[in-house]
Amino acid sequence: MKRLLLLAFLALQFSCKTSETHKVEDQKIRGEIGEHAMVVSAREEASKIGLSMLLQGGNAFDAMVATEMALAVSYPFAGNLGGGGFMVYRKANGETGALDYREKAPLKASRNMYLDEEGNAVPERSQVGELAVGVPGTVAGIFAVHEKFGSLPMEQILEPVIALAQNGFVISENQQKTLEAYQEMFIKVNKDTILFAGNFSAGDTLRNVQLARTLERLAQNGKKEFYEGKTAEILVDYLKERGGIISLEDLSSYEAVWRKPIEIDYQGYSVISMSPPSSGGIVMGQILKMIEPYDIEKFGHNSLKTIQVITEAERRAYADRSFYLGDPDFVDIPTQFLTSVEYLHNRMKDFTFEHATPSSEIDHGNIPGYESMETTHYSIVDQQGNAVSVTTTLNGAYGSKLYVEELGFFLNNEMDDFSAKPGEPNMFGLLGAEANAIEPGKRMLSSMTPTIVEKDGKLFMVLGSPGGSTIITSVMQTILNVVEFDMGMQEAVNAPRFHHQWYPDEVVFEPKLFDKELLDSLRSKGYQVNERNSRILGKVDAILRLPNGSLEGGADRRGDDTAVGY
Ligand code: DON
Repeated sequence: MKRLLLLAFLALQFSCKTSETHKVEDQKIRGEIGEHAMVVSAREEASKIGLSMLLQGGNAFDAMVATEMALAVSYPFAGNLGGGGFMVYRKANGETGALDYREKAPLKASRNMYLDEEGNAVPERSQVGELAVGVPGTVAGIFAVHEKFGSLPMEQILEPVIALAQNGFVISENQQKTLEAYQEMFIKVNKDTILFAGNFSAGDTLRNVQLARTLERLAQNGKKEFYEGKTAEILVDYLKERGGIISLEDLSSYEAVWRKPIEIDYQGYSVISMSPPSSGGIVMGQILKMIEPYDIEKFGHNSLKTIQVITEAERRAYADRSFYLGDPDFVDIPTQFLTSVEYLHNRMKDFTFEHATPSSEIDHGNIPGYESMETTHYSIVDQQGNAVSVTTTLNGAYGSKLYVEELGFFLNNEMDDFSAKPGEPNMFGLLGAEANAIEPGKRMLSSMTPTIVEKDGKLFMVLGSPGGSTIITSVMQTILNVVEFDMGMQEAVNAPRFHHQWYPDEVVFEPKLFDKELLDSLRSKGYQVNERNSRILGKVDAILRLPNGSLEGGADRRGDDTAVGY
C-alpha cells in the first residue's frame, strides 16, 4: 500500500503543470488528463492537497474539505475561513444535492444600516470594515460535508493544510500584484499593519503561523471551536472593539443548510446547479431555456447572432433576478414558474435580430398571484466517480479587508450582496428589491453557480467560477462551448467571454479578443459595447468526462489555476 501511495505521489509530482495541453486521440487541444480522478482549483498547492486525499483512499468530499482549507491558506484573496460558499455534488450512484454555507446578516443588522441621514446608500459601509461582515459559514460548511460524506479523519485531512500554513506557500506574480495593490488599504482599514501588508515579491514564501494554530484547534475541537470556542470569542471581541455587530449568538446559531439543487434540461443534458440563496441555478437555467429554441450551433461560437440571443436572454433573466430572488428562508420564490418553458419562451417573444431591446423596456416578468470581487471555484471528481463543485468567497478581494491577526484570516464583506436600497446597484452593478433587502439572520442573494452537468444520466461536466454577477454567464458559456460548439474542456475555458446583466445596459467583452467588425455590427444594432480592460469575466475551473472515461481538467488561463489528475 505504502509503495502504491509513493508511486502515485511521484506520478502526481510529474503530471501536474498549469494548463499544460495534451493531445488525445480526437486531436483536440486538451488540458490535464487524469484516468481516475481530478482536482482543479485556483492554486497548485490546493489542487495537490485535494488530490493527495484521494491518493490516501479518501473520497471527493474529503478532498473538498482539504481543498477548501488549502485555498484559505494559499489563496487568501478569496479562499477563506471568514467567508462562505456553496457546494453542488453528485455521488457516483447518481444522487445529487447541494450545501448552502452562505454568510448571514447578523441579528443586529437592519434594513437601512447602509444609508446615510438623507437615505442615500453609502457603498463603503457595506463593502469595507466591520459592518460589511456577514456571519461566516465556511467552517460550518466543511464540517457538514465531513459529517455527512467524509471518510478520512478530520485530523488527517487538515494535516497537510496545517503544514502548508506553517511552512508557507510561494507567492506568485499575480499574488504579488494584488498584495501590492491592497497594501495601503489593508493598513488603513486595520489601522495597523497586518501579515499581508508586508513587502512581498513573487517567489517569496509566506508563512501564516496564526492560521496554522487556528486550524490545529479546529482539527482538535471540531466545528464548535469556530462557533462557540476560543476562536469564536477572539473573533467577536475583535469585531466588537471596532464597532462591529456580530455576536456570540450569531456564531452559535449559524448552521449550514442542505438544499435541493436546481435541475434544468438543456438539449437533453441535465444541468444541476445552485438553488437560492444563490441566483446562479435559476438565472442560468432561465437563460439556457430562453436560448434553447435557437440554433446557436449553426449561428456559430461568439457570432453576431449567438451574442444577440444570449444577451437578450441574459437581460430578461437578470431583470427577474433583481425582483424575485433572495433567501428562500425569508421570501417565497416562484422557482417552478420562473424556470418553466411556457414562461421563458413567452419572455423572448419581443426579441428580434434587428435591434437590441433597451433594458429600460424590460421589467421583471409578471407572475400571477405572486406577492411579495473575490470568489474562487474548484471542481473535483474522485476515482469512484463522486463529483463536487464548490464556489467559496469573501465577496470582494480579501473581503472587508479586515484581517484578524490573532486567527490568521480575513473577514468577508458579503453584506454588500444585499440590496442596500431598492434600485441602488451593489459593487457588481446588480440591482435588488424587497426580496433581497437586509433582515436579521437572512442570507444575502448570491450569483455563485457551482454546477454539474449530466449526459444520458451519467456524469459529464463539473464547473463553476468566481466573478460576481459574471459568474452565471461565464459558467453558461463554458457549458455551451462544450455542448454546442464541440470544444474540449480546456479550450472551452480558454475561449473569450462576454457578459450582460440587464443593468447597466451594456454588453461587456473581454478586451482585445473580439473582432472589431463584430463589435461594430452590434453597435449598429443598438448594443452598448464595453471592452473595459480591468474586468475579469470569470475564472472557470472545470472537469469533463471524456468518452473513454478519462477526465480532462480545464484550469483557467486567466489566473494561477491548476488541474492535477492521476
Ligand atoms: O455571492 C456572490 O455572488 C458574490 N459575493 C461573489 C463575489 C465574486 O465572485 C467576486 N469574484 N470575483
